[in-house]
Amino acid sequence: MAPDDKNLISNVKPVPIEVKRQKESLPVYYVQTKLVNEIIKNAVTIIIGETGSGKTTQIPQFLHKYDFCKNGMIAVTQPRRVAAITVANRVAVETGSDIGDLVGYCVRFEDVTTSSTKLKFMTDGMLLREAMLDSLLRRYSVIIIDEAHERTVQTDVLLGVVKAAQKERIVRKFPFLKVIIMSATMDVDHFSRFFNNAPVIFIAGRQYSININYAKNSQDDYAFSTVATVFQLHRELPADHHFLVFLTGQDEIETMARSIATVAKELHGQTPPIMICPLFAALPSQAQLKAFKDPPIGTRKIVLSTNIAETSVTIDGIKCVIDCGMVKVRSHISGTGLDMLKVQRISQAQAWQRAGRAGRLSEGTVYRVYTEDQFNNFQKMPIPEVQRCNLTSVILQLLAIGIKNPMKFDFLDKPPKELLESAFKELELLGTIKTDEDVCTLTDLGKKMSSFPLDPRFSKALFAANELGCVEEMLSVISVLSSEGVFVTANVDREKLESIRSKFSSTEGDHVTLLNIYKSFRGSKMNKQWCYENFLNYRNLCYTAEIRKQLVDLCLQQNIKHSRSCGSNTNVLRQALLNGLFLNVAELQREGHYVTLGTRQIVQIHPSSVLFRTKPSYVLFTELVETGKRYIRQLSIVDPDWLPLANSEYFKRFRINEQ
Ligand code: CDP
Ligand code: MG
Repeated sequence: MAPDDKNLISNVKPVPIEVKRQKESLPVYYVQTKLVNEIIKNAVTIIIGETGSGKTTQIPQFLHKYDFCKNGMIAVTQPRRVAAITVANRVAVETGSDIGDLVGYCVRFEDVTTSSTKLKFMTDGMLLREAMLDSLLRRYSVIIIDEAHERTVQTDVLLGVVKAAQKERIVRKFPFLKVIIMSATMDVDHFSRFFNNAPVIFIAGRQYSININYAKNSQDDYAFSTVATVFQLHRELPADHHFLVFLTGQDEIETMARSIATVAKELHGQTPPIMICPLFAALPSQAQLKAFKDPPIGTRKIVLSTNIAETSVTIDGIKCVIDCGMVKVRSHISGTGLDMLKVQRISQAQAWQRAGRAGRLSEGTVYRVYTEDQFNNFQKMPIPEVQRCNLTSVILQLLAIGIKNPMKFDFLDKPPKELLESAFKELELLGTIKTDEDVCTLTDLGKKMSSFPLDPRFSKALFAANELGCVEEMLSVISVLSSEGVFVTANVDREKLESIRSKFSSTEGDHVTLLNIYKSFRGSKMNKQWCYENFLNYRNLCYTAEIRKQLVDLCLQQNIKHSRSCGSNTNVLRQALLNGLFLNVAELQREGHYVTLGTRQIVQIHPSSVLFRTKPSYVLFTELVETGKRYIRQLSIVDPDWLPLANSEYFKRFRINEQ
């Protein structure tokens, strides 16, 4: 019996006619029956289709319509929280329901679902957390792992966890679990083999032809060449050719937005007006929406985006893509236990994805700010994260899910042995695991720590804060670090900014500075105007407060004294941080630069740090980034005497203060 659209939901609101029309014109709409039949027939189905063909928004709705929710919910996982939230909102609109009702989402620190939720969009990380409570994921009748080509650590681990859950549910005669893997065009055979030669369905997209242009000569400064290309095209092309420019990160996007605005002002009258739309994950969602809106007629839209617009979100109306050829990725520095954010060349697969964004509605053009020879030397595929990132969080999670030997876990691609071993070593130093021959178990502390959705280094710092009596402060610092940046930097006068920021600055470093900001924000009663006057990001600070509230709840469950404060004695706060971040210590050298303790990496203090000019002898850092030089970011001064107290086992190998 063909299901009726009207049966879909109880609480229906009218669906705008243009939304309905748009939905019915998507490529997946035409293959609906075939798709559903394949899914009914197979335990695992792999669906491949161009970005924008309607996979993420439509397929969950088809399944709901055909009664797949009878025995449980449909989970749809996304690697990025922003994608989970925006897609859930869109599907809520398309089904005429309020968000959190039939359609909900669940991302770290934010759960917008109720008992009536059937379609649950969530980050892959959240589903993994649920697997810690029930490794068979029995609340779900269908699990859709979306954007699988992204190959984040969490997605890869989830593939193994879901495969095991499906098998075990058969063995234990529980209701069957359907698994669907969705991806943009990528290495399909690999996924299919992993799932016992599961069938692959291709959805023909509506991709128009794309004209490809390469740079004639290789360019040293890709950012400069990108702006130059933007202006050359801006002079030549009609105003309704909107641009999508791929860049690497927030800072770069904000700087470029400023320089484009300045040059455009000088060209006033000679070229069409422009509307610049930044797009990156940390951007408040309201500001993100601007990129999806049509500009006034006669105005050119220029979207400056990170790789988020490669596949995660679709911007209609783009005719011209400008690809800088670079991407910011996290990768492990061999043998150090440290991850670093680094700008590097994209892969050929990514270059094709980026180009494809230009041909969604009509023929388009891509301008590659690199030569054809360079392109031919790009690697074919990006390296999956499990093969290049710190794995401590994941191993801790696998153990918490009940996987006894994570070394032998069924990975789609096995991480290198060295990465696994360094993760085990770090977890042992953090006091979270005990290894006995081949068997590895969580310690009591490890069990408690794994209930926090935090990097183990931060959860360790939290437990240390409990011992040292500064949980109140630690919760604020961790919440700020877990939010998406509290500073506003775009379109701001630098000098004014510095003078305002100095009000919050602490000589102890950035962590105490962030604490001061958070305390002042609370002191202002979370006032929007106050944030505006102080160049602080109101939404992200509210989000910080939300994160903090959730961490307090978890503290209550774990008997952590969440309101114990160290007052003005923030020394203990820095000591507690050191307990978690003991691998991230750097020592000043006579030559004026720093080296990381133990692994002897040469690093510099990032100019954004309040300690940039101070140059203390020892600092702990939160993050390593490479943009030309290697920089350490978010620092605190540490006293060398604290090091052996923070981790005697680790620091016994070093001779501190005897350079
Ligand atoms: O997953 P896939 O890339 O195949 O497509 P999708 O995310 O389901 O998007 C299909 C279409 O839905 C897009 O082309 C947009 O027109 C629309 N959409 C939207 O308007 N707002 C969103 N947040 C997501 C999608
Ligand atoms: Mg999608």
